[in-house]
Amino acid sequence: MTDSLTVRDNRTGQEYDVPITDGTIKAADLGKIKAGEDNPGLAVYDPGFVNTASCRSAVTFIDGDKGILEYRGYPIEQLAEKSTFLEVAYLLIHGDLPTKEQYETWVHEITYHTFVHENIKSFMQGFRYDAHPMGMLMASVGALSTFYPDARNISDGDNRHMQIVRMIAKMPTLGAWAFRHAQGKPYIYPDNELDYTANFLSMLFKMSEQNYDADPRLVKALDVLFILHADHEQNCSTNAVRSVGSSQVDPYSAVSAGIGALFGPLHGGANEAVLRMLRRIGTTDNIPGFIEGVKNGDERLMGFGHRVYKNYDPRARIIKKAADDVFEVTGTNPLLDIALELEKIALEDEYFVKRKLYPNVDFYSGLIYEALQFPPEMFTVLFAIGRTPGWLAQWEELVQDKEQKIARPKQVYTGERGLDFVPASERWA
Ligand code: CMC
Repeated sequence: MTDSLTVRDNRTGQEYDVPITDGTIKAADLGKIKAGEDNPGLAVYDPGFVNTASCRSAVTFIDGDKGILEYRGYPIEQLAEKSTFLEVAYLLIHGDLPTKEQYETWVHEITYHTFVHENIKSFMQGFRYDAHPMGMLMASVGALSTFYPDARNISDGDNRHMQIVRMIAKMPTLGAWAFRHAQGKPYIYPDNELDYTANFLSMLFKMSEQNYDADPRLVKALDVLFILHADHEQNCSTNAVRSVGSSQVDPYSAVSAGIGALFGPLHGGANEAVLRMLRRIGTTDNIPGFIEGVKNGDERLMGFGHRVYKNYDPRARIIKKAADDVFEVTGTNPLLDIALELEKIALEDEYFVKRKLYPNVDFYSGLIYEALQFPPEMFTVLFAIGRTPGWLAQWEELVQDKEQKIARPKQVYTGERGLDFVPASERWA
């Protein structure tokens, strides 16, 4: 068997051998196929990159048909059960699980970079009272680039490490302050005696008490949710980080672009949209009418469907279990009954079965977040905190990848050509 593709161009009758490597052909090889001397080479038209590999990556593996998700080769189920978010972050960034000493150094580094410059605080206080916390997070992460101008030196590995540590460490501080802002409550400084996730909960919910002690079961559940969101190969926001990062800009600017991409309702914003959808449906009696509307194309069943998973989303299973653990502490969320009934009906309905639409990570996560007292606007912020190590691992890989170039897709031009410009004074006469 030869690993190549023979292409016959029926326009010219010419045949080409295109090498196949790792199940892909190089788009540049297709560019050699031309109908004539002046003809631009053949290109691939692929809106949404549904069948285009943009990079080689050793960070995350997904088999969408089998419902497999692995970070650096480790199955998500084992990481969710046996690891911690910071250990998973180390794994994603460094490629290997840490030794005891490496882990302790890593946790120490992250813990001691949780504080942000006081001017960031004033900057965040300048937002309107009803500013969406994702907008605040996106802006404040972008603003960090002005506090660390050295971050532009992306060719220095130690420097990159410093920015990675800073960003993972500061994200909960910024996220918690965006939350407090909407509530008109004072911003709470990090408590370095607490671990990563417990410290985040403290910055969110602490009032006049000396120390904020979150229920360890809730801390664990949120830590698991962060692990589940930590990376997901070349999704929309990671692609944004890589695309913007390919211009060699600093990582704060690149991650801020990723946060913008995550904000959208078809991506991370889906968890917020799911909750609003469940509230709107209101009671299980309204489900059949709602499903009919979805099938008629009036709207989408948010939290269902995935570009890659066509069987089930392994994260959704783990989240269902985490939801049970959380509800044991907080009492059940009344919207759960609607979600369960929606899932049951959708999994039996031909429309969803035929299109292989299953619950994704966002279908149940919102119910947990609500039980943890988060308003829907905060849900995507939680996703962003979890996804930060993944964005940075992918950015680090991009920076070191000699095959990468500045991202610059082609287009199929459909507009006019060669028009003669008529000045406004003549056009409006
Ligand atoms: N509800 C109803 N119909 C749907 C849905 C849905 N949630 N998702 C896809 N479809 C239909 C779609 O209308 C199309 O039908 P047809 O073939 O008749 O035109 C078919 O299924 C294929 O859909 P697509 O839009 O071509 O699929 P895609 O791979 O481009 O989109 C998706 C993937 C996740 C954007 C989409 O399934 C969706 O919009 N889901 C709802 C939003 C959501 O839950 N997003 C979170 C994704 S997981 C976490 C994350 O990435 O952040």
